[in-house]
Amino acid sequence: MANTKANDEALQQLKAVVKRYPLVPVHGIPLMEPIAQRWASVEKFKARPDDLVVATYPKAGTTWMQEIVDLILADGNTEKSRRVPMHVRMPFLEYCAPPPLSSGVDKLVNAPSPRLVKTHLPFQLLPKSFLEKNCKIIYVARNAKDNLVSYYFFDQMNLMQPDPGPWDRYVKKFMEGTVPWGSWYDHVRSYWEEKANHRILYVFYEDMKEDLAREIRRVKDFLEVDLPEDVVQKIAHHTSFQVMKDNPMANYDTVASIIFDRTKSSFMRKGEVGDWKNYFTVAQKEAFDADYLQKMEGTTLRFRDVL
Ligand code: A3P
Repeated sequence: MANTKANDEALQQLKAVVKRYPLVPVHGIPLMEPIAQRWASVEKFKARPDDLVVATYPKAGTTWMQEIVDLILADGNTEKSRRVPMHVRMPFLEYCAPPPLSSGVDKLVNAPSPRLVKTHLPFQLLPKSFLEKNCKIIYVARNAKDNLVSYYFFDQMNLMQPDPGPWDRYVKKFMEGTVPWGSWYDHVRSYWEEKANHRILYVFYEDMKEDLAREIRRVKDFLEVDLPEDVVQKIAHHTSFQVMKDNPMANYDTVASIIFDRTKSSFMRKGEVGDWKNYFTVAQKEAFDADYLQKMEGTTLRFRDVL
């Protein structure tokens, strides 16, 4: 009985803070209001040299890479990686919401080393301390149209991000960069250009789909972890879409349904390359591609052809 009352109170407290927060620009990048309000704590975050950062534009395959990294560092011990949800194993640096929810910085400040850090911040907003301490950064990029589709469904289900609105308007918002964490184009370019100057491993979602074991080998080499091939294969199996979809410690099933409305979409939605073809009209694709060429002009960054 006492337990039920405590649960009810916790739910009421949670309900009071779950809302679709507006976006507020932070150094020109639109972020959810609670993040903007506590931005100073992110900006002055003190990195340690052995911090490892997994950076992505939202919906590029962050969780997938997080699971891979955690398993590599656990020598493929799947029991260890199933101990707690991903957002506990690898806190989300800039994430912040009023209590009873918490902030990524608060979780990270007292965490033991080596810390694993997730972020969606574009390179220019990454706390300078990570660069001063020469921390390793793994960046995952996903082709724009699939990334957009995934984000559209996620914004429907995540009741703490702005409502995506109708599909056609959302495509325009993505192109304009008026979605949380701003422009996809600037984001993927920023880490691409900076990888010459910092310890950044740049990984493509489409390459992970093509040959997961190969990309796991790249990550473990970057992390300087020696793993026999059978462990690499074991990690590839454990991080396949289907196995992760069934793993509540990796698929965000632990997030309350008043935050993630699973009637709208599931977190592990499809995990495919080229799903955009099911949503873009011919006219939308043509306008998107023409705009893409302009926004990506002058970069050597090339995404695999997913036409
Ligand atoms: P879809 O919405 O296209 O299915 P993030 O972790 O950055 O939020 O990205 C989520 C996207 O990555 C979702 O894409 C999800 O299905 C996909 N994803 C997560 N784990 C995956 C895996 N093991 N294999 C393929 N895709 C995966």
